[in-house]
Amino acid sequence: MAGKQVFKTALTELTGVRHPVMLGGMHYVGYAGLAAAVSNAGGLGVITALTQTSPEDLRAEIRKTKELTDKPFGVNMTLLPMLKPPNYDAYAHVVVEEGIRVVETAGHYKGLEPFVKLFKDNGMSIIHKCTSTRHAKTAERMGVDMVSIDGFEAAGHPGETDVGGWVLFAKAQQDLSIPWLACGGMGTGGQLAAALNLGAQGVAMGSRFMATKEAAIHDNIKKAIVEGDESSTTLIMRSMRNTERVYKNETAMRILETEREHPGEFDRIRDYVRGAAYKRAFQETGDINEGVWSLGQVTALIHDIPTCEDLIEGLVNDAAACLRKTSSMMVEN
Ligand SMILES: Cc1cc2nc3c(=O)[nH]c(=O)nc-3n(C[C@H](O)[C@H](O)[C@H](O)COP(=O)(O)O)c2cc1C
Repeated sequence: MAGKQVFKTALTELTGVRHPVMLGGMHYVGYAGLAAAVSNAGGLGVITALTQTSPEDLRAEIRKTKELTDKPFGVNMTLLPMLKPPNYDAYAHVVVEEGIRVVETAGHYKGLEPFVKLFKDNGMSIIHKCTSTRHAKTAERMGVDMVSIDGFEAAGHPGETDVGGWVLFAKAQQDLSIPWLACGGMGTGGQLAAALNLGAQGVAMGSRFMATKEAAIHDNIKKAIVEGDESSTTLIMRSMRNTERVYKNETAMRILETEREHPGEFDRIRDYVRGAAYKRAFQETGDINEGVWSLGQVTALIHDIPTCEDLIEGLVNDAAACLRKTSSMMVEN
C-alpha cells in the first residue's frame, strides 16, 4: 500500500496517482509486473508497447497489468521512423480500446502527429518525451498535455544537443506553458525536490527502476547498475546522429571503434545493436557484455535494489525533508 500523499502536482492531478513519479518506457523492461508495482506504490507505472511483439500481445500485457493493479497506469508508444516500422496504428488502437487513460509518447513529432487526435478524441492524456524545449514547444502546439524533458544524462536517446538537466530544466521553466516532468539522471529525493523547485510537476525515471526487486531483468544486470559509477556509460551512434547512452561494456567499445573507422555506416554496427542480444542478456544469460543496453549516468547514484514501494516512498519523503531543510535556511527579515 502506497503511503500518504506528500505532493499534489499537475502529474498527480492529471493522472490520478499519489506521487509525482513516473516510470519511463523501457524496451524489454517495461512489463506488467514492474508497471503494476510502480502504480501500486503510488507512482505512474508504464508498460512499453513495442516490447510486445504484436498488438494482441500488448492487449494481453495491458490486461495482465489490470489484474495486478487497480491504480492508474500508462503505455509508452515509441514512434520512430524505421526501415520496417511496426504497425503503430494497430498498437495505438489497442491502447485506446483497452481504456488506457495516459500514453507516454516518444520519437519525432511527425510520428506523433497522427496519434494526437486519436488519443485526445478518446479523452486520453499525452505525456510526450523531448530532449529540448524547442521540441517541447512543438509538442505543446500539437496539443499534448505534458512533456517529459530528458537531459543529456538520460539513458536511451538523449538527443544531439548535449544539454544537461540542470540547464534544460531551468530552460523548460522559462519556455513552456504546459506542465513538464524532469527526466534523465533522476534517482534521489534531493533531485526530486530540486526538480519541483525548478517548476517540474514530477520526475520520470528509467535506470533507477531497473534496479528494483520487481524489474524482471537478470540479477547480474542489476548488480552492474549498483556497481556502476558516473563513467560507466557511453554514447554510441553519435556518427549516425542517433545517439544512445548505454552501459559501457565490451560491445559498446567495439561499436565506438567501428564508428571511429567508419563513421555513419550503420550496416557495420547493425549486428551489435540488435535488440535480441540485450533481450537475451536481460532475460536469460545475465551477460553484461552481451549486446548494448541503455543506462543513464544515474547508475552512479544507485546503491541498492529496493522494492518500488520503498524506492518511491523514500524519494518523496526525502524530497519533503530536503524542502523543509531548505526553507529553514531562510532568514526572517
Ligand atoms: C533499458 C532502457 C530501455 C529504454 N527504452 C525506451 C523505449 O523503448 N522508449 C522510450 O521512450 N524510452 C526508453 N528508455 C528511456 C526511458 O524511458 C527514460 O527516458 C530514461 O531512462 C531516463 O533517464 P534515466 O535512465 O537517467 O532515468 C529506455 C531506458 C532504458 C534504461
